[in-house]
Amino acid sequence: METTTKANRNVERFRYVNKLVIQPRLKSLHPALAELIDVTARHPREKMASTADQLVLYQSLTFMINAKKILDCGTLTGLSALSFALGCGDDGHVYTIDVNEEYVSVGKEFWEKAGVANKITSIIKSADEATKEMLKDHEETFDIAYLDVPKQYYEAVYENLVPLLRPRGLLLVDNIFFNYAVLEDESNYDTMTAHVANFNKRISSDERMLHNFIDIGDGLAMAVKK
Ligand SMILES: C[S@@+](CC[C@H](N)C(=O)[O-])C[C@H]1O[C@@H](n2cnc3c(N)ncnc32)[C@H](O)[C@@H]1O
Repeated sequence: METTTKANRNVERFRYVNKLVIQPRLKSLHPALAELIDVTARHPREKMASTADQLVLYQSLTFMINAKKILDCGTLTGLSALSFALGCGDDGHVYTIDVNEEYVSVGKEFWEKAGVANKITSIIKSADEATKEMLKDHEETFDIAYLDVPKQYYEAVYENLVPLLRPRGLLLVDNIFFNYAVLEDESNYDTMTAHVANFNKRISSDERMLHNFIDIGDGLAMAVKK
């Protein structure tokens, strides 16, 4: 009974947030973002995409801290990259990393439509390698870094992202509840859940960061570099 009530509340909550946050915010952003959300919903890997409430939050956060240099790890169809680009003003720039050129090519058309393609650099490479290489020339220069790649890379990429962020830079990490699998007994973890749980423990004990876990999408870690 209690479960049913909670499930209904979640549906009601989603409808309420959709009506009063997602729909008005998508309308006020560029129509290309709403269009790319629709296109992504029909993509075979749509389950991996950031949710619409996350995307409008990313645009707000980028605008709020006046972010000019953003690192987006995990492009997929370019939704998060587009949200950051729409938030960062004409002099901002987004670097977005993915190994799959075909997925990324879906987004490029919509970056063009939104008039922000010149503000987005797509890097086709594994995020662990790409972020390691960036340490040579980009240390402490990023205002925001978003980590949203397969979970086995989380800890390695995180260790590169922390030095790439400027002091007071913002780190966002997706899927930290992993469909709530991390709440189960550790003995029931599969390999991917164990990677996420280990990452969550790592950031929780990292004295370089002030972290929070937010219940949006599949769970979002938001952390500020000290
Ligand atoms: C969760 S999706 C990214 C979602 C996207 N940020 C969004 O807002 O919709 C993860 C992406 O990571 C990519 N990927 C897989 N292995 C990778 C790696 N080693 N380095 C970087 N990206 C990788 C996949 O191709 C996929 O597009």
